[in-house]
Amino acid sequence: MDQLAHLYHAHITELNRRVADICQRENLAGIVIHSGQPHRQFLDDLNYPFKVSPQFKAWLPILDTPNCWVIANGQDKPTLVFYRPVDFWHKVNDVPQTFWTEHFNIQLLTKPDRIADYLPKNMTAWAYIGEHLDVADVLGFTARNPDAVMNYLHYHRADKTQYELECLRRANQIAIKGHLAAKNAFYNGASEFEIQQCYLLEIGQGENDVPYGNIVALNQNSAILHYTALEHTKPEQRLSFLIDAGANFHGYAADITRTYAFEKNRFYQLIVALNKVQLAIIEQMKPGVKYVDLHIATHEHIGQLLVDFELATGTVEQLVAQGITSAFFPHGLGHMLGVQVHDMGGYAHDERGTHIAAPDAHPFLRCTRVLAANQVLTVEPGIYIIDTLLEQLSPSAKQVINWKTVDELRPFGGIRIEDNVIVHQNRVENMTREFGLVD
Ligand code: GLY
Ligand code: MN
Ligand code: MN
Repeated sequence: MDQLAHLYHAHITELNRRVADICQRENLAGIVIHSGQPHRQFLDDLNYPFKVSPQFKAWLPILDTPNCWVIANGQDKPTLVFYRPVDFWHKVNDVPQTFWTEHFNIQLLTKPDRIADYLPKNMTAWAYIGEHLDVADVLGFTARNPDAVMNYLHYHRADKTQYELECLRRANQIAIKGHLAAKNAFYNGASEFEIQQCYLLEIGQGENDVPYGNIVALNQNSAILHYTALEHTKPEQRLSFLIDAGANFHGYAADITRTYAFEKNRFYQLIVALNKVQLAIIEQMKPGVKYVDLHIATHEHIGQLLVDFELATGTVEQLVAQGITSAFFPHGLGHMLGVQVHDMGGYAHDERGTHIAAPDAHPFLRCTRVLAANQVLTVEPGIYIIDTLLEQLSPSAKQVINWKTVDELRPFGGIRIEDNVIVHQNRVENMTREFGLVD
């Protein structure tokens, strides 16, 4: 706790500095950040699980309390208006008292609609940052998520503070424990549903606590990129296992994928080869490198794997140019990671929000930034047998595919290997490997 307390002090100092900077530029008195409100399910009296605004949890690790507000002008100690109703139906959270509380003036709000009593009076000089524009309207805010402020905050979100890096390391450490338990469950014959339960139990987080819906896929299901169904039935034959599963620490996300073969066969060799590609790409990461270039380099590696594993014939250049590598590796190399799994700011070129889109040939790439120290990214190359994509290839492209190998590998689905890395000035820190998920 001590280390976090120390790092948090510098974190909040930096957030206050950013607020002072952008408010001065935009002639604002300050910003008011809303944690959010519960969302009611249609025709029901139940709410969806509460998901706090990412801009709010970038300030402090309150993840489960709607109707909270941070009021910051960058100069004074920020105020936290903490929602604490009188309620005998639901659990009422305790008034926070922990490593970060000394950095806020904490005021208690018992009724959400009394918030106006706690907010500054000259509302038109303040910017509302949050989801509920109707609420902001009623409260009298005229600046609601103003572009200049949002662009500035999103751009700087990529530049993680030391506190944030430590939270991301701890999220990785937690997720790794789950991954090791899940791997064990796979080799011991568990179903997808059972593996998911093992994972969650091991990390001590529920389905609504983890940063995204885990992908736990056996056999051919691993070729469905966003597979989140969980089969209760065990497959007759156990071939492969892909798990893309994260964990949360103080609102920061881990996002890790591993793929396993049940036996030491050609699919296993392909995992070993893709693992080497992934490590080679990570080795190239350093300040000044364009993430897009790493993505394109990965396509060249994938082209070579297609040749080496007799999935296609031809030169690597042809396989990339004809879109064949994209049929086997259809998603982006990765993305920025932080309080959101796909952290904001991946396309932001500067603090004014100049947008650099993904290249036309790679529309699903989520990051086009130039790497810099203290950025955190995932690196997640993949190779899959996805029939719908192979069928869409041109007749000439189809001719260079070795359909016999495609048929052989189809039941195994696909492979993705995903690590979370910190770019430092002089080295890359692969949190996932360094904390013990070595293969
Ligand atoms: N788990 C989501 C992703 O890898 O981007
Ligand atoms: Mn993932
Ligand atoms: Mn990812």
